[in-house]
Amino acid sequence: MSRYLIIAAVLSTIFCIPKSLAADDNLGEKLHQQQCLSCHGTEVYTRSHLHVTSLSILHQQVKRCEMPSDVHWSNEEVMSVVNYLNSHFYHFPTP
Ligand code: HEC
Repeated sequence: MSRYLIIAAVLSTIFCIPKSLAADDNLGEKLHQQQCLSCHGTEVYTRSHLHVTSLSILHQQVKRCEMPSDVHWSNEEVMSVVNYLNSHFYHFPTP
């Protein structure tokens, strides 16, 4: 019995670590889902003539696209969406 408890404890520790490391990414994903899919879908991030060609242009574009919304994002929130888009779509090298 106790052997199973130890295995369960070890497994739950393993599964909790990636969750906490990915906290920022989850915020970006959530914000993006809530506020970024009304005008365009994710297809604009992978089309053949991308407007965004670097991490800093991506940052500017997220800010530009976030402007018309009622809810204004903090720098951390903008960065979390930049990180989310970069890790899922653009894959620019990060400093
Ligand atoms: C008010 C409408 C609108 C909303 C809301 C919006 N966008 Fe956009 N977005 C646009 C338009 C228009 C373009 C340019 C599309 C084109 O050139 O075909 C664009 C393009 C982009 C691009 C550039 C794609 C490329 O070519 O590389 C990114 C990145 C982007 N949006 C991110 C976001 C994010 C992040 C949000 C949420 C904050 C968001 N958008 C919300 C209108 C919007």
